[in-house]
Formats: sequence, structure tokens, C-alpha cells
Amino acid sequence: MAPKTVLITGCSSGIGLALAVKLAQDKQRRFKVIATLRNVAKKEKLEAAAGPALDRTLEIKQLDVCDERSIRSCINSIPNRHIDILVNNAGVGLIGPIECQSIEEMKAVMETNFFGVVRMIKEVLPDMKKRRSGHIVVISSVMGLQGIMFNDIYTASKFAIEGFCESLVVQTLKFNVFISLIEPGPVVTEFEMKIYEDAEKADYSQTDSETAEIFTNIYLKNSKAIFSSLGQSPEDIAEHTLRVIGTAKPPFRHQTNTIYTPMTALKHADPTGALMTDSFYKLVFKYDTLLHVSLKAIRLLRWQAHKMRQGARLLGFR
Ligand SMILES: NC(=O)c1ccc[n+]([C@@H]2O[C@H](COP(=O)([O-])OP(=O)(O)OC[C@H]3O[C@@H](n4cnc5c(N)ncnc54)[C@H](OP(=O)(O)O)[C@@H]3O)[C@@H](O)[C@H]2O)c1
Repeated sequence: MAPKTVLITGCSSGIGLALAVKLAQDKQRRFKVIATLRNVAKKEKLEAAAGPALDRTLEIKQLDVCDERSIRSCINSIPNRHIDILVNNAGVGLIGPIECQSIEEMKAVMETNFFGVVRMIKEVLPDMKKRRSGHIVVISSVMGLQGIMFNDIYTASKFAIEGFCESLVVQTLKFNVFISLIEPGPVVTEFEMKIYEDAEKADYSQTDSETAEIFTNIYLKNSKAIFSSLGQSPEDIAEHTLRVIGTAKPPFRHQTNTIYTPMTALKHADPTGALMTDSFYKLVFKYDTLLHVSLKAIRLLRWQAHKMRQGARLLGFR
């Protein structure tokens, strides 16, 4: 079978880079990867990770999801504009009290995380419909299903894309075009670093001291603990995405971290929303000690599991 052409957005780092390399290095050579970056000057890390796959099964192209001309010129440069699988990965984060964020900053998040994906889908969907075949993957988030304090705008952008895809998928299935939302929990990438760096530089004088205190002393502390206890690697997400891509009838939703599944189910268990709001309120403001103890226990269990896997590998088990 001819390899499938996979176009991925945002491959300069993190999940996009890991996925591009994983697919390009596939032993069965099932994929031809078009790894796109908004700024090709940042291609070094990708080139190094791709190794011998570079310019064989992995080709680098410029594409900015916020710029329609750049999207069109990239897609037009692909023979017959033929893309079998589009992976919408490019994304940006924003955390903090909304009083400290400008509308411009908020719009920039929506431009990338929501309209960026919409622009990409508008460009590739007509060709996929004509061919009656295709797969559109969106790297969403568990925050596309459940809001998290101080992630108001980021969460809104992921909810928006989830709602968009949920509406679109029934129509696209009529044309044999699948849509899959990959919903990771925390992933240890530059994304996390960038939002913490921005949070450190931010000016909190626009909010009251109590809110600023909750953000810096509770939210940031919890968030860092959660990332170090529950965070997956970009390679883990690439592995999950490969599994979804490789399925004959890909699922519409795929969560990569099962620890988060009960959290995202709370709102469905109680339509008034009280179960969800009470649980989060208590977790953040009343039982934070319990939260930190549980996270430490999880970190220890993951470390032990990691050591056991290492030991098993050394002994020749897979
Ligand atoms: N990290 C997490 O905890 C986490 C959890 C759930 C979901 N996600 C989602 O996973 C996706 C990838 O994030 P990541 O964690 O891998 O973060 P990352 O390492 O910061 O990667 C984000 C990528 O998006 C690119 N990008 C940003 N704006 C773009 C634009 N206008 N056009 C094209 N590319 C653009 C960045 O390029 P530059 O290098 O040029 O900035 C970078 O390559 C995002 O959609 C994110 O929302 C992340």
C-alpha cells in the first residue's frame, strides 16, 4: 500500500515534533510526513530528531495556522493537494486571572487554537470529501471537556473546537472522512514552560490581592505538582495518536490519560453542575493537603513502575 500523506501543524517542539518523528520513522513505512512550522528557522531540533528520515519520509514546510495565504501555499505545494491525514496540533496557552489579560491576548489564543484549526479544515476538507476519504485529527485537551480554574480562555478555545468538531463530524462521516479529538491531560513540553514564564512576567496589579494570591500560591503550586506527578511525555501522546490513526474506524474522542476520565465525567453524572463545581472547589480550597499527598503517592508509584520497566528491559523482557 502507498504510504499515507500526513500533514502536521506546529512541529517545532513538543507533541507535533514527537508525532512527526514517530510517523516518519515507522518501521512499516506507512506514512509520508509533512511536518510544518510557522517559523522554519526553528527546524533544527526537528531535523536532528528526524535523523535519516529527513527528506525521505519527513519533509519540512512553512505553515502558520493564523495566516490563510501560508496555509494555501503549503497545501498547494503538495502533489494534487492530496493529504490523507491532517493533524491539527499547533496551539498556545494562556493562564492567569482574566482581569490581567487583554482582549488582544485572548483573541490571539482563539486565533490559533480555534480559528487556526477551522482554517486548516476549511482548506483540506473539500479535497477529502471529493476523494471520499480522509482523517482529521485535532490535538484538543481534557480542558476541551472540563474547565480548570485560571485557564478560562485556553479552556474556551478547546471547548470551541470540540463543539465545532462535534457538529461537523456527522456530516463528514457521510463522505467517509473521520474526525478524532485527542484529549491529553498534562504533557511535559515547552508549552508548560512558556505559560509559567509568561505567568512570572505578568502584572497582577490589575486584580485584587486575594485573587493574585490564589493564582500564585495555590494554582501555580498545584499545577506544577500535577505536571510532575501526572504529566505524560510528548512521545506518549504521539503513541496514542498513532494508535488512533492506525484504526480502521477511528474514534471521535480519545483521552490519553485515564486518571482524568472520572474528572471529565462529573458534569454528565449531575446535569445541575453542582457535583462538578463542589468537587473542584473542595479539591482546591479545602482538601489541598489531600491533593498533594495523592500526587506524591502517584509520583512514587510511577517512579517505581518506571524502574520496574527499566529492570525488565535489562533482563531482556519487552
Ligand atoms: N502540553 C500540554 O500540557 C498539553 C495538554 C493538552 C493539550 N495540549 C495541546 O497540544 C498541542 C501541542 O502543544 P505542546 O504541548 O506540544 O506545546 P509546544 O511544545 O509549545 O508546541 C506548540 C507548537 O505550536 C506551534 N504554533 C503556535 N502558534 C502557531 C501558529 N500560529 N502556526 C503554526 N504553529 C504554531 C509552536 O510553534 P513556535 O515554536 O513557533 O511557537 C509549536 O511548534 C497544543 O494544541 C496544545 O493545546 C498540550
